[in-house]
Amino acid sequence: MTATTSLAATPPMGWNSWNMFGSAVSETVISEMAEAIVAHGLRELGYQYVVIDDCWTRREGRDSNGDLVPDPERFPSGIKALADYVHSLGLKLGIYSDAAELTCAGYPGSYGFEEQDAQLWAAWGIDFLKYDYCHAPVDQASAIERYRRMGEALRATGRPILFSLCEWGGRSPHLWGRSVGGHMWRVSGDVFDSWVNIWIPHGAGYYGVGIDTALDIAAEVADYGGPGGWNDLDMLVVGLRGKGQIAGHGMSFLEYQTHMSIWCLACSPLMIGCDVRRMDRETAALLTNQEVLAINQDALGVPARRVKQIGRCDLWRKPLADGSQAVAVTNRGSTGQELMLRAGEIGLLDTPKLARDLWRQEDIAEFRETLALRVEPHQTILLRIRA
Ligand code: GLA
Repeated sequence: MTATTSLAATPPMGWNSWNMFGSAVSETVISEMAEAIVAHGLRELGYQYVVIDDCWTRREGRDSNGDLVPDPERFPSGIKALADYVHSLGLKLGIYSDAAELTCAGYPGSYGFEEQDAQLWAAWGIDFLKYDYCHAPVDQASAIERYRRMGEALRATGRPILFSLCEWGGRSPHLWGRSVGGHMWRVSGDVFDSWVNIWIPHGAGYYGVGIDTALDIAAEVADYGGPGGWNDLDMLVVGLRGKGQIAGHGMSFLEYQTHMSIWCLACSPLMIGCDVRRMDRETAALLTNQEVLAINQDALGVPARRVKQIGRCDLWRKPLADGSQAVAVTNRGSTGQELMLRAGEIGLLDTPKLARDLWRQEDIAEFRETLALRVEPHQTILLRIRA
């Protein structure tokens, strides 16, 4: 394994500033979030990368050397000092740019400055780059070319920098993301804090992706992604509760639980989006369940496939490194469903098996051929089934 593939041997985990803070990101927010990640035990669970998203540079552009300049009011100590602090807490620091002249929010992008920016980030001690695609040509060949240029520039620094591609899935990055040096690639538009898609009136307007749609996207790309390069379903909205930059309608506990379940099954990176300093108990329970996280971080790294749909319920199955299987049932309908899980129909052998409910962390049944379940509206029951 090369130094760069070992970077994302399992799906990257961490925190990203965009979902909650948008353009209000600052060194105070980043330092306090890093401290909260440690204080809440999230670092020990694998949440490692603290990522500064868009809006960290000054708006008026580069300096006379052509270097990017951090916003002097929000990052007065500079990014190097912030990286040193984040590293001192045992965490890693990520940063953001765009494969065009401007970022999505209109700050300077990196097109034409790939080597210079990569060298600057490496000198600062940056460990992760999210590279967006606003204002760039729409065709696939240009995207591949622009991402390849940055991938090569990062590699040339000699520093292991995790490369996160963000062109929202329109140019099928699951087919080429790895070949341009990517360790993860967004497969969807921006996921909002909402079960259904929502109309965002920004600019000409667009649809923000709801969790119900993200489930179908996860199913579509399930044949791709694995150790070293992952399908990225977008940052987590768990715990936003209708607040922040990507505020939607907010979601119920069961809906957030479905969101987390599918991100884990799909081997998506888990980048927390809420304010970790103010996590409530339900949010912490969703983000810190070790048996659920183990499904996401399983060494085999095979994304779950949607193996069957029964009425409004989706059945998912993910093989795990120890020979057991993660099996999930998501009820996308608006009424509770009683259903019979039949081993043969979801590819399980007709042998004695033990089913453990991972959210409850309880063994729920021994079964051979069938297992009866009740699934509430928008709930996901997530099981680990051992022979
Ligand atoms: C795009 C990305 C988001 C975020 C914003 C920042 O919309 O998809 O995740 O990075 O840009 O402007």
